[in-house]
Amino acid sequence: MIKTILKNGVPLLEQSIQSVALFDQQLLDHVNDMIETMRYYHGVGLAANQIGINQRIVIIEVNQNPRYPEQSKISLMVLVNPQIEMIGNFKESYMEGCLSIPDYRGEVLRNKSIRYQAFDQFGNQISGIADGFLARIIQHELDHLNGILFTQRVNDMED
Ligand code: NI
Repeated sequence: MIKTILKNGVPLLEQSIQSVALFDQQLLDHVNDMIETMRYYHGVGLAANQIGINQRIVIIEVNQNPRYPEQSKISLMVLVNPQIEMIGNFKESYMEGCLSIPDYRGEVLRNKSIRYQAFDQFGNQISGIADGFLARIIQHELDHLNGILFTQRVNDMED
């Protein structure tokens, strides 16, 4: 089902989200709702708390996205209880947006490369190295699970 995207100011977007403990049908239903909702609103990523679910689930997909037309395809990824680790300290700046903060974009500096570890929706362990736009989306979505919105990371010219 296509769900409503929670907007900036809702408490569930500003708190630390709970880990998934059970890989059950309810989790699969949540993931399916997230996929439908992300595609409907043309997101490139979505965290579960953006549709009101207090579970550490992130999905990512880029496929000729009208909001980021310059970005190449990233096949659907489902990350449950994701953890990341920075690789090196090279950072890149890029204009980000967020479905929870309509009509706003801002430059955010993020680590260029990361290592990630998570489970898929069936409980299989997955891990990998991400670079560039994918690394950025993973960091943005993981921030959501920690109650952080990208506006808190927009480059401050006084820095
Ligand atoms: Ni977002």
